[in-house]
Amino acid sequence: MAATAIDLQPYASLDDEDCEQRIIKAKQTLGDRLVILGHHYQRDEVFKHADFSGDSLKLSREAAKSNAEYIVFCGVHFMAEVADIISRPDQIVLLPDLSAGCAMADMADLDQVERAWTELSSVLDAEQSITPVTYINSAANLKSFCGKHGGVVCTSTNAQKIIEWSFAQREKVLFFPDQHLGRNTGVKMDIPLEQMVTWDYDQPMGGLTPEDIRQAKIILWKGFCSVHQMFKPEQIENFRRETPNGKVISHPEASYEVCQLSDYVGSTEFIIKTITDSEPGSQWLVGTELNLVNRLHQTLADENKTVQFMSPMLCMCSTMFRIDPQHLAWVLENLVEGHVVNQISVAEDVASNARIALQRMFDN
Ligand code: 13P
Ligand code: SF4
Repeated sequence: MAATAIDLQPYASLDDEDCEQRIIKAKQTLGDRLVILGHHYQRDEVFKHADFSGDSLKLSREAAKSNAEYIVFCGVHFMAEVADIISRPDQIVLLPDLSAGCAMADMADLDQVERAWTELSSVLDAEQSITPVTYINSAANLKSFCGKHGGVVCTSTNAQKIIEWSFAQREKVLFFPDQHLGRNTGVKMDIPLEQMVTWDYDQPMGGLTPEDIRQAKIILWKGFCSVHQMFKPEQIENFRRETPNGKVISHPEASYEVCQLSDYVGSTEFIIKTITDSEPGSQWLVGTELNLVNRLHQTLADENKTVQFMSPMLCMCSTMFRIDPQHLAWVLENLVEGHVVNQISVAEDVASNARIALQRMFDN
């Protein structure tokens, strides 16, 4: 065993093929002490090493039931935090590159949410009348805030069920950080757009009047995903003109206008299942991250299905992309040598309330 952790720097010059062999070897050495979880947006060179792949909900369930000593999360920071919160205290969660964050999650921080809560409390009794709901794409301390204030976590798979549960607790919902998932879900629940107001966290009182707040059912945080905001109604209209029998499917982080024009809207897991189960020869336009769309295109080409990315710009999630084979090989070879690098560890005073909010989600 090396006395100190192996340095990352030499890995930068390894090519992907060298990394692949080294990752396979390290996985064999670690055996069932290790589990690798991979989100659908991971690049192929990393995704192929995942023991389990899935959307945020599925991966959090895998983390909760895993017995492995090491959980290496090929995804982004908030996903690894969730894995740490819900795994056993003796399990260790690692994120191969600590800079793999989520730009949307960064659009809400605890100070801003606490300020919003105080400002909302000047108009109504927030504790009695608002359920705070955080999308899983958020920092652990926001999940903790929800746990403390009778709130809950949701993912893109269960958002409707969770918002229904939230309305059974209190009359209003404060939904953060993604306005689009909140709005698209509210629309599915027949909540009029006028009763879903947007809280601009850069403005006093979110830029809203007391009357706006009193008449709102859902107060939507003004966050968004920069990848999913690339998708536009015109792209769907062009596709429909050129491919009249084609189908359109989008992730609910896309805008209201895009989701309204889509035939199907759902999480990454839903998108994969819907396209995989479709008729051979079917044609799809997909509004979600590029790595997933390309993988679907390649794996379903044999069935003569065409799977096309919605935007003409080839945008991908740049933070998911930070997890590369070089970082994965580095983390695993360190584990083989008995060194834990890039551990994600959420302080217990934050984790305990975050766990409550996550458990309310799992119970639904
Ligand atoms: P899913 O839960 O659908 O995997 O979405 C996660 C995400 O970050 C989408 O941008
Ligand atoms: Fe975050 Fe968007 Fe990347 Fe998903 S695609 S991880 S929401 S930045």
